[in-house]
Amino acid sequence: MYVCICRAVTEAEVRGCIAAGACTLKDVVTRSEAGTGCGSCVGKIVALLGAELSGPLQRSA
Ligand code: FES
Repeated sequence: MYVCICRAVTEAEVRGCIAAGACTLKDVVTRSEAGTGCGSCVGKIVALLGAELSGPLQRSA
């Protein structure tokens, strides 16, 4: 499923960027180019960052 239609970036690609060390919106944008078009996907990217980065912390708490 595409997160960013403008740059044809999928949710799996965004998750891959995060797994590879991206921990900020800027990191994901730089690595994937998602969010560099109309910008309407930025909220989805931020949500994915939150979900991916909070998961391990919640499990270890
Ligand atoms: S949908 Fe991602 S920049 Fe337009």
